[in-house]
Amino acid sequence: MRILITGGAGCLGSNLIEHWLPQGHDILAIDNFATGKREVLPPVPRLEVREGSVADVPLLERAFSEFRPDVVIHSAAAYKDPADWREDASTNVTGAINVARASEKAGVRRLVNFQTALCYGRPRQVPVPIDHPVAPFTSYGISKTSGEQYLMMGSVPTVSLRLANITGPRLAIGPIPTFFKRLQAGQKCFCSDTVRDFLDMSDFISLVDMTVKEGAPIGIYNVSTGEGHSIKEVFDEVVAYVGAKLDQPVPIVPPGGDDVRAMVLDPSATKKAFGWEARIGFKDTIRRQLDWYRSHGVSDVHSHLAAPRIPA
Ligand SMILES: NC(=O)c1ccc[n+]([C@@H]2O[C@H](COP(=O)([O-])OP(=O)(O)OC[C@H]3O[C@@H](n4cnc5c(N)ncnc54)[C@H](O)[C@@H]3O)[C@@H](O)[C@H]2O)c1
Repeated sequence: MRILITGGAGCLGSNLIEHWLPQGHDILAIDNFATGKREVLPPVPRLEVREGSVADVPLLERAFSEFRPDVVIHSAAAYKDPADWREDASTNVTGAINVARASEKAGVRRLVNFQTALCYGRPRQVPVPIDHPVAPFTSYGISKTSGEQYLMMGSVPTVSLRLANITGPRLAIGPIPTFFKRLQAGQKCFCSDTVRDFLDMSDFISLVDMTVKEGAPIGIYNVSTGEGHSIKEVFDEVVAYVGAKLDQPVPIVPPGGDDVRAMVLDPSATKKAFGWEARIGFKDTIRRQLDWYRSHGVSDVHSHLAAPRIPA
């Protein structure tokens, strides 16, 4: 297959590239390196990397017409500065429109988009079913929801995967890298009083493999174990893993104004459509992530939340 991946230098994009290259696919990654890093992509003949933004129509159209992709994975997203609404709108809305239009023009067979669970806002029901209304309230959530809606209006068969917290190589967001880095440095932590679902990269990739197959279902799907775990449970796993000795219990703080107390996605419609379900349980998922940090270290940790920040 010829696969074009926007945001290919990011966590999910680079893991998919690592998975697909040995299978003999030709890949073109487009990335502006806002949060991704060029050096994670190997200099090999079947992988081309172009630096640029999905907001840049001429760059995108040139890439699509020269590469002629069969499949497009839209993984680029802006989120690192919650106050930078213009950047979020430019990448997540205009960028999605540009990808949808360029895909139509190039006769792409299938388009796969990655969506944040923040599209559901503060859900009325947890686990959140796929037909729950969208109600985003952050710049990242609002812009990604709008982007998804444009993508789904396009004429290319499109799948949008609404994702749990995917863990795996190069994860640089969320509580696991934060706790690992701080506990190893002997720094204090706190846990927000929230619940999340965590999904191992191998489970995520096994579903993406199903979505790019000829004739696979299209539409919008939740991708999750369906199981919620508190951030304190994650903290406890990291404490046990690094063997940290705590002189007092970790503070549990209320979620920040732009956070959501419980977000767990219901994957039952995904299971029905694809016959897919997660195979790796919570403790193994966290342990596999910590094994990776132990051998590779933690890079900069990004967040799409404005608050709360961990005190020094
Ligand atoms: N990782 C998760 O658990 C998770 C959960 C929900 C949704 N998602 C979605 O999955 C996708 C990938 O997320 P990720 O975790 O790999 O994040 P990431 O930050 O590692 O990857 C995003 C990539 O997009 C690139 N990028 C940003 N703006 C761009 C632009 N204008 N043009 C081209 N490239 C641009 C970044 O440099 C980065 O390499 C995103 O769309 C995100 O919203 C991820």
